[in-house]
Formats: sequence, structure tokens, C-alpha cells
Amino acid sequence: MARAWRQSKNRIVKNIFCFGCLFILPLFVLAVVVYSKSKNAETPSVTDEVSSQNIIESTQKSFYLIVLIFSDPTKSATRKAIRETWLSTSHQNMKHMFVVGSKGLAEDVLNNVLKENSSHHDMLILDSVNESYISLTTKVKKGFQWLHSNYHFSFLLKCDDDSFVRISPLLEELKKQPQNYLYWGFFKGGSSVFQKGKWKESEWFLCDTYLPYALGGGYILSSDLVEFIAKNGPLLQQYKSEDVSVGVWLSPLKIHRVHDVRFDTEFKSRGCYNEYLITHKQSANDMRVKHDSLLKTGKLCPSELRVRYSYNYNWTVLPSKCCKDFNPDLP
Ligand SMILES: *[C@@H]1O[C@H](CO)[C@@H](O)[C@H](O)[C@H]1NC(C)=O
Ligand SMILES: *[C@@H]1O[C@H](CO)[C@@H](O)[C@H](O)[C@H]1NC(C)=O
Ligand SMILES: *[C@@H]1O[C@H](CO)[C@@H](O)[C@H](O)[C@H]1NC(C)=O
Repeated sequence: MARAWRQSKNRIVKNIFCFGCLFILPLFVLAVVVYSKSKNAETPSVTDEVSSQNIIESTQKSFYLIVLIFSDPTKSATRKAIRETWLSTSHQNMKHMFVVGSKGLAEDVLNNVLKENSSHHDMLILDSVNESYISLTTKVKKGFQWLHSNYHFSFLLKCDDDSFVRISPLLEELKKQPQNYLYWGFFKGGSSVFQKGKWKESEWFLCDTYLPYALGGGYILSSDLVEFIAKNGPLLQQYKSEDVSVGVWLSPLKIHRVHDVRFDTEFKSRGCYNEYLITHKQSANDMRVKHDSLLKTGKLCPSELRVRYSYNYNWTVLPSKCCKDFNPDLP
């Protein structure tokens, strides 16, 4: 009796084991495959996420345009000017964030940044980015990766805290652009690569000049291109200059590169034209002047002004010849 029970128990155990072979083992294998795939899909992992709770909440949000304003943690007065001028009207489909690095930041500066964020809820604080050992390129890459893993969006505007943006006309114009694979800004390509000084590119061997890139004072990328950069981040060579780096990263891709003279985004403003969508190198005071002018007259410039000539990018020639056709008729 006891033996029979033991035998039947053994049989049951065997059957359970066989059941395990047939069903549980494949399920286990499947689970491992799914798990490792989902892990792969997450690489490159970004460690700056606040918490998984926040990620879940924010992935439910989606926007037509995300504006990332790369900012210096200490420049709260500049951010205040931006909030009070070109960010003062809210747009339903748009969200902005000031991007700052907080690694190794002095405690009082960090506390001010956190306080600023708790009143304005508009700061992306990257704790893996050390602003003082500054690699703006790392900051841009980490910012793109964070954005890709935390938001649904159609377009990203990357700009700096000295850029003045006219959001409404920019949104209008954006609707007329290709909605995928878009790289829209003021392009440059002909300048020779910095061989010394602060911007020396010691890793550069690609060409005698930079490859075509949109100047960093403000450019727009469709989300598919942000995704491309975010996912390939670990393999992408970084250069000193963040806008040059983005141009190189996107250089082999079949995409829409749209050069637009309404992006006044060079190292120095070309002046003031009412058509400008973005003007770079603006002080807080410049921003207030432009904002007041828009409120009073509907025009960006109290009076139009030329400082330097502009050009249309010539896409049929090599970078060394791309950008020489200065044209006094262009803004
Ligand atoms: C930047 O980070 C490094 C390492 O985390 C730290 O040693 C350094 O003090 C930081 N820089 C400053 C100036 O805070
Ligand atoms: C900054 O504010 C946002 C929005 O309120 C919040 O989700 C985020 O956790 C804050 N960041 C930090 C580091 O406190
Ligand atoms: C581009 O450069 C080529 C060669 O110099 C010239 O023939 C062509 O007209 C230029 N195109 C534009 C749009 O300026």
C-alpha cells in the first residue's frame, strides 16, 4: 500500500516534471528572451530618470513640440527673463524644459535649482552631467536620451538660454515642414576644424572642414532623429562642439536637411529682422526689448537692422563651397 503510494507519488512527481519540461521550461525560456530583449531595447540606459513612477506618468503625456533650453545652473535670472518673455504664452501642444547638469554642483546652487524647479516645474536636472567639466556634447546626448525615454513628442527644438524664440510662428511654420526625418535650422559646413584653443577637436579626422550641421543656437529635429541619436548614443563619437557632433551623427542618414535664414543662430546675431523665428546671443535685456516690441507692434524688431550678411546653403556642392553666396536680399 505504502509502496504503491510511493510509486504513484513518484509518477506524479515525474508527471509534474514532464509537465514542467513541456510547458514551464519553454515559458521560462520565453520569459528570459523577452526580459533580455526588453533590456536591450532600453540600452543605452540613462541613469538620470527621476523614478519609474515619474516615467510611467510622463510617457502618457505627448506633445507636438518639446523645447529643450540648455542652460547654466547659475543663470536663474536668464531663465526668469525667458519665462517672462518668449515662454510667457502657453501653448497646448508644447512643453519646455531647461536642461542643467547637477553632478558635483555646489550645494547652494543645487538647492536654488531644486527650489526653482519646485516653483516652475520646468527643469530637467541631469545628475550625471558635471557642468564644470563641461562637455556640452555629453549634455546634449544625455538630454536627448532622457527625452526619448520619458516623452512622446513629434519634434524637439534644441536651443540655448541666450536664444529668443517666437513660438507661435515657429509652430505654424513647423506644420509646413516634412513631419518625419526633419533636421531644420541654419546650416553651415565650410569652416575649417579648430586645431587649437578651447574648441580644438583632437578626435577629428573626417575631413578638412566640418560636415554640414545646423548651428546650435536653435534647431529642430523630428522625434525619429532624436530616437536615432538616443539609441546609438554609446557608439557615437563625441566632438567638443555639440552642434558639430549632431551634424556628424546624422551625416550618413537620408533625411530632410532644411536650411532656413529665419534661424539667426550663428555665433553672433546677424541683426534683427521681423521674419526671424529664432535669434541667438540675446541678453535678458535684448529679450525684454524684443518681447515688448512684439506686444506693442506685433513686430520682433523695434527697427530692422543688418549686422552681417546671410546665405542660402548650396546642397549641390561640397561643404568648403556650401556657404559663400552671401546675399544682401536675405534676412
Ligand atoms: C565634477 O565632478 C567631479 C566628479 O564627480 C568632482 O570631483 C568635481 O568636484 C566636480 N566639479 C566641480 C567643480 O564641482
Ligand atoms: C523637477 O520638476 C519636475 C516637474 O514637476 C519633476 O517631475 C522633477 O522630479 C523635478 N526634478 C527634480 C530633480 O526634483
Ligand atoms: C550651387 O553651386 C553651383 C556650383 O558653383 C552653382 O552652379 C549653383 O547655381 C549653386 N546653387 C545655388 C542654389 O546657389
